[in-house]
Amino acid sequence: MRNFTRPGYLPVMTHKMWLRIVWGHDRERKAAHAWAAEQAEDADDWGDRIDGALWRESAGFARSLAESARPRVQELVSAGIDLGGPGGIELLYFLTRILRPGTVLETGVAAGWSTSAVLGAMKVNGAGRLYSSDFPFFRIPDPERYIGYVVPEELKGPWKLHIKGDRRNLEEILLPGTKVELLHYDSDKTRKGREFFLLRSRPHLGENHIIVMDDIQDNMVFREYAETQGLYRVFPYEGKFIGVTGPGLAALERTAGK
Ligand SMILES: C[S@@+](CC[C@H](N)C(=O)[O-])C[C@H]1O[C@@H](n2cnc3c(N)ncnc32)[C@H](O)[C@@H]1O
Repeated sequence: MRNFTRPGYLPVMTHKMWLRIVWGHDRERKAAHAWAAEQAEDADDWGDRIDGALWRESAGFARSLAESARPRVQELVSAGIDLGGPGGIELLYFLTRILRPGTVLETGVAAGWSTSAVLGAMKVNGAGRLYSSDFPFFRIPDPERYIGYVVPEELKGPWKLHIKGDRRNLEEILLPGTKVELLHYDSDKTRKGREFFLLRSRPHLGENHIIVMDDIQDNMVFREYAETQGLYRVFPYEGKFIGVTGPGLAALERTAGK
């Protein structure tokens, strides 16, 4: 029988359990990366196929945002603050323009590239409201100041930012009766974080919603979810992968080019 009172038993067990968890995560990450790489297709080809003119407009928006945000990025660099770079701007702009969603939910704002993409498209649509969830990045001084730092002032009208962390923010955002048509998940990349988001948002998904998830190579959550949805797309982005799924994707592809 195991002698649980033997000195050193508990630290050894804790270490073994820790190794098992880390090894399990590592194995899952490798499998998720391999799956994403196998599924991946070029976003430009996909966008062109769905609506070439709108994809070009989206690429134009991404270029002009990068240009206009340059001074703010420079300020961040000079202050030694790294909030991460742009991710999937064309795709989010494109989906917001083509779906014309009444309500968009995003998690993970940081400097606000994805936020700017959705708000930029909403401005052209002349409709829509964006709810964003984030929390201050505690390793920098005055962190609230930098959330959404690159979001142009003139786009902020339809934006509601919540900064208490996803668990508390989603309680505030997803009220009874709230329906969301486009969701972008880019905050807590752990299995637990992603599963919480998918479960918590489920009663609030609009009939033809689309879910976009960043960094799907981190674990199998996107694959598991997407395979229940039928259609999904995976796009490579700077060595990482973005996943897109939901009934709105099938609807979009059915009507593409008509
Ligand atoms: C990759 S960045 C988001 C990048 C952003 N989408 C963009 O395009 O600029 C991830 C963000 O998620 C936030 N975050 C991480 N875990 C979170 C949580 N549990 N709740 C809310 N925000 C979280 C981080 O503070 C960080 O700002």
